[in-house]
Amino acid sequence: MTSPLRPVKSSTYPEAVKHRRSISGVTDKISVSDDRIVEIVNDVIQICPSSWNMQSTRIFVTLGNEHKKFWDTVISAAKPSFLKSQGEEAWKRNEQRFKYFRDAYGTNPFVFTKLAVSGRFLSSKTTHPSRSCMNGSLTSPFTVFETFAEHSNAMHQITLWIALELEDLGASLQHSHFVPGVEFGILSSWSVKAEIVFGAHSGKRPTAPEKVPVSNTVKVYKWGMWLSRGGGVSIASVVT
Ligand SMILES: Cc1cc2nc3c(=O)[nH]c(=O)nc-3n(C[C@H](O)[C@H](O)[C@H](O)COP(=O)(O)O)c2cc1C
Repeated sequence: MTSPLRPVKSSTYPEAVKHRRSISGVTDKISVSDDRIVEIVNDVIQICPSSWNMQSTRIFVTLGNEHKKFWDTVISAAKPSFLKSQGEEAWKRNEQRFKYFRDAYGTNPFVFTKLAVSGRFLSSKTTHPSRSCMNGSLTSPFTVFETFAEHSNAMHQITLWIALELEDLGASLQHSHFVPGVEFGILSSWSVKAEIVFGAHSGKRPTAPEKVPVSNTVKVYKWGMWLSRGGGVSIASVVT
């Protein structure tokens, strides 16, 4: 299905993306309603692309007390493991980090489901028009599609991260090894890729971190050579 062209100012998207930061130390005193949060998550899952339209990403929304229980479960699971492998000091530091996350209002674990990769792809229900190019056969190793599903999962993560911050919430991206499983409806056959922890700002917004100059990271190939463009000037350069 095609959609009508919708004019969006070309500066709108980069402005929105630039607004995002990693915000820690957030609280649960948010002024955004649960309905609005769920609406944003629903939008994100509906608008983000996936390879062959596999739609393998799942987002779990834990809010309020459920969010607190989520991090309580992480703390209980992590403690023995930290104490055994890294000792008391390391545990104290990490416990404090987990408690900061617990102080937030919500956590959205991003799940990648292999069933969706295999199920959607192999079934004739896959809706992407280019599926017909495959002539019904699976020509690439299956791991390729798992990799694409991970890429798509990351696209969902950044989109939701930006969307929550445009709502004046502070969010950060986390990767805990101790996320809860079935007690939060996350099946063992699924793989949790990341968590977005969000809440109300409690301090100043951090400034943007320094970036490597674009002359080192963006290369333009024209006139038979690689060029770096800085301040409107093109200079032939070596890719590092
Ligand atoms: C793929 C990816 C994984 C990340 N994982 C973590 C994480 O596990 N914990 C954390 O505190 N921040 C994590 N971050 C946040 C980065 O440290 C942060 O984005 C970076 O320092 C730049 O700061 P900014 O987000 O304010 O631009 C992650 C970011 C990305 C893109």
